[in-house]
Amino acid sequence: MYYPDEVIEEVRSRNDIVDVIGSYVKLQKKGSSYFGLCPFHNEKSPSFSVSRDKQMYYCFGCGAGGNVFTFLMEYENFSFVEALKFLADRAGVQLPQEEYSAEAKRRADLRTSILEVNKLAAKYFYAQLRSPQGKTAWDYLRGRQLGEDTILAFGLGYANKYSDDLYRYLKTKGYTDELLAQAGLISIDEKHGPYDKFWNRVMFPIMDANSRVIGFGGRVMGDGKPKYLNSPETPVFDKSRNLYGLHRARSSRKPYFLLCEGYMDVISLHQAGFTNAVASLGTALTPGHASLIKRYVQEVYLTYDSDEAGTKAALRAAPILREAGITARVIRMDPYKDPDEFIKNLGAEAFEERIREARNSFLFGIEMLERDYDMGSPEGKTAFLKEAARRLLTFDEEIERNNYIDAVARTYAVSSQDLKKLVTRMAVEGGLARPASRPRTSADREREKEDGHLKSQKILLTWMLEGEDIFRQIRQYISPSDFTEDLLRAVAEQLFAQYDSGDVNPARIMNQFTDEEEHRQVAALFNTKIRELSTAKEQEKALRETIIRVKEYSLEEKARHLAPTDIAGLQKLMEEKRALQAPDKLHISIN
Ligand code: GTP
Ligand code: MN
Repeated sequence: MYYPDEVIEEVRSRNDIVDVIGSYVKLQKKGSSYFGLCPFHNEKSPSFSVSRDKQMYYCFGCGAGGNVFTFLMEYENFSFVEALKFLADRAGVQLPQEEYSAEAKRRADLRTSILEVNKLAAKYFYAQLRSPQGKTAWDYLRGRQLGEDTILAFGLGYANKYSDDLYRYLKTKGYTDELLAQAGLISIDEKHGPYDKFWNRVMFPIMDANSRVIGFGGRVMGDGKPKYLNSPETPVFDKSRNLYGLHRARSSRKPYFLLCEGYMDVISLHQAGFTNAVASLGTALTPGHASLIKRYVQEVYLTYDSDEAGTKAALRAAPILREAGITARVIRMDPYKDPDEFIKNLGAEAFEERIREARNSFLFGIEMLERDYDMGSPEGKTAFLKEAARRLLTFDEEIERNNYIDAVARTYAVSSQDLKKLVTRMAVEGGLARPASRPRTSADREREKEDGHLKSQKILLTWMLEGEDIFRQIRQYISPSDFTEDLLRAVAEQLFAQYDSGDVNPARIMNQFTDEEEHRQVAALFNTKIRELSTAKEQEKALRETIIRVKEYSLEEKARHLAPTDIAGLQKLMEEKRALQAPDKLHISIN
């Protein structure tokens, strides 16, 4: 369902953000803003602010921020439309009845229908678990020490013994075979026709961050093979960008996630009070997972199985997390196989202790490395230290590298000085002027360059939000078409239009971005603070440089997309570029 802008804006403007947030968070007026304890991270003194003027909120501690829709999406795990419906209800605004245009229908249909049919399937499995046929499954889950609350909280279910039961049920609801196959719920056999993908299995619905059912995992009760059967990837189910348990872990208010391997591990941990546990979906951790995690926490404790495979998986996951800017630690589960068994045998307190004792993932890697060498012999130990030195080279930051050198030196009873010398020698031998983590490809450099430009464009947008005076100066040089990324250009277009109509309203711009990821990105734009440079002169200089950077890149991009025969167009671009470089041309003044 797509709602017209006016409707969204009406709902937003009739729900004062201070009142709405005030019903969740205790707010106190301080100056022109209201302050309270941030509901999105743990804190003791209030850094969460809500502005009635701007109709926006922002946390100075964790950077969460946005308008009234964002708040509900974050706090209640609502999708945009759910937040809209909730607020429409609250303010007594009548939303238009569903009315699909052909175009909107095409866009929304498939995904929506799959989510819908998934939800029905989950409910069906849920009911089966509680029916007489589901007794074995119920006993199985209870036998694994899951409480009724836990079974309910994770929406566990049962796919019964008949191989077309779900299929027939969903057919009565009017779904086509094609859609059911696209949702991964049935397979179609040439000879025998459609049949259920899951039967006689305990069912684990897999939900996205907004608690929508995107797929399923089904476990045999006993030793059959395969142990788990998972939904195939579908238009709503991307295994490398979703995590099991995230819909609950995201509001756990802990500053880190416990990342484990299995569904059962997540469920056991939640049941034991560790509500910040998540798992990747039967696949190795990907950069997509890492950036998803980064939205919620900066730190991850890897709680992988204690066997060889789990150890290897942890060693592979750590650098992926590090690359995304997440600190990784490793929790040991021995002598038990996995978190589930650990908790059952030793309980929550012992697990807490393992969390406290968690190893830094780099040092864990070194410890594992040790097993490959004969540490009793001088040659063995030397070879080991050389390899350790080679790994220590991967820290670009000198202070960080030295801290790790000290830690390794301490553990293996060698002098820090000697180890540092060895590291330096490895660098020289490796022909590295400066230790580098890995060879950087030209694609990496391209991406970094592009990231830099996007950052400048974001900063420029933030400047444009500072006020009419600055905006007017910027618009002498910049137009929305200078923003090279779709999302940023869309924001710029809105902002220009609002300045033109004399009604600047960032909270309203946010209405336009109903995709959760985009909504977040725009919220981040509006919450960036730039007035940190002290003097007006410094600010002017920074802004001038930003304008030049954005404009130059935009001209470059435009030139790149010009037809080679378009001489006039090229001349015009070159002229613009020259104008930009004339030192007296770009005049900016900030009061
Ligand atoms: P329990 O044995 O029930 O405790 O399961 P677990 O949660 O401990 O899972 P395990 O450590 O055996 O496996 C980790 C994850 O890998 C599971 O949660 C599944 O997502 C996935 N997985 C395990 N076995 C299979 C399998 O046979 N096929 C597929 N496709 N995935 C599997
Ligand atoms: Mn297990």
